Amino acid sequence: MSTPAVRVRLGDRGYDVTVGSGTLASVGERVRAALGDGATRAFVVVDANVPGEHVNTLTGSLDRAGFGAQTTSFDPTEKVKTIATAQRVLESLAATGQDRGDPVVALGGGIVGDVAGFVAATYRRGVPVVQCPTTVLAMVDASVGGKTGVNLEVPGEGGERLLKNMVGSFHQPVAVVADVDVLASLPDRHVRSGLAECVKHAMIAQTISGEDLMSWLETNADRVLGRDPGAMTELVRKSVAIKADAVASDERETAPSSVGGRALLNLGHTFGHAIETLPGISPDPADPSRAPLHHGEAVALGLVAACACSARLGMIDAAWSDRVRALLGRLGLPVAVAGLPGNGELLARMGHDKKVRAGVLRLVLPEGDGRAQVVEDPDPSAVEAGLDAIRA
Ligand code: GLY
Repeated sequence: MSTPAVRVRLGDRGYDVTVGSGTLASVGERVRAALGDGATRAFVVVDANVPGEHVNTLTGSLDRAGFGAQTTSFDPTEKVKTIATAQRVLESLAATGQDRGDPVVALGGGIVGDVAGFVAATYRRGVPVVQCPTTVLAMVDASVGGKTGVNLEVPGEGGERLLKNMVGSFHQPVAVVADVDVLASLPDRHVRSGLAECVKHAMIAQTISGEDLMSWLETNADRVLGRDPGAMTELVRKSVAIKADAVASDERETAPSSVGGRALLNLGHTFGHAIETLPGISPDPADPSRAPLHHGEAVALGLVAACACSARLGMIDAAWSDRVRALLGRLGLPVAVAGLPGNGELLARMGHDKKVRAGVLRLVLPEGDGRAQVVEDPDPSAVEAGLDAIRA
């Protein structure tokens, strides 16, 4: 229990994010410390990609701490991140007879964390949730801050449209435990994809907490790509600290654009969401078989687009854009792709992003040196310059 934690400072709903090597074996005692003596059961929602040994470590730890652990699992994709999946998990949970004080525990990547969090937010009108993220992306972003939810598919021109995270709730976890040892079994592409969120944090870090994460990433890129547990622990802690400060300052993302707040975490995402669900786009223009993009790959492209948009608006100099591109490239992330539709279609897709408030496009744009701001209704020609910058 001696591993230092990052605190998400939200008053009586505050919690610790514990990051380190071997921490999964301590989840039971940490949850017991967070919840006290009343709870006797735990319902674990497991990502089907997580190796059985990690599932056993977690359930063993919960059992030792007096939580009779039961599990359910599903194979997470954006397609199955639906109300129907949440309902199936809710039905399995209800079948256990779990009580209001008993926790739901998510063991997996961002999709499992979002669905399990949504289940916990709605079962018996809200039960505690514990997040045990198993991907870089979930460790540095999705598991912290209490956003939960599922996608909606609605009819649109030319077929169904997937509206990401359209149904959900804010439901803060009571604890987050990230075990960097779990990353050893993660496919390389997934690790790289998660690192895009770390670059995003580096691009807003000075505005939020004064941390120079950009220089740290540039210095330690090789150790990170080699999944050195010490480097991963440091990176996840630094990244989570930035996210925790953003969440503590603006929990429900309601700060005005002039302040920025939690919305700054959407840097790269409005551009990214416009291309992420396009079929047939590969992160490697020379290898179409790698399509479709992973979320982090779309975010990496979104970061490049945001830099180009900022540059057109005179908000950053070329040196910062070059640093961002160089770091993304070094981390094996795409900076341009082939086969994107025309700007008209992409602008329309950006207009459907949920970061559009009352018909006004709000873009987070970098200002250089780890600073960013929210810009309302940017000049469309600057947005198009952003989109053009990511065409291979
Ligand atoms: N991933 C952005 C947020 O949690 O606000």
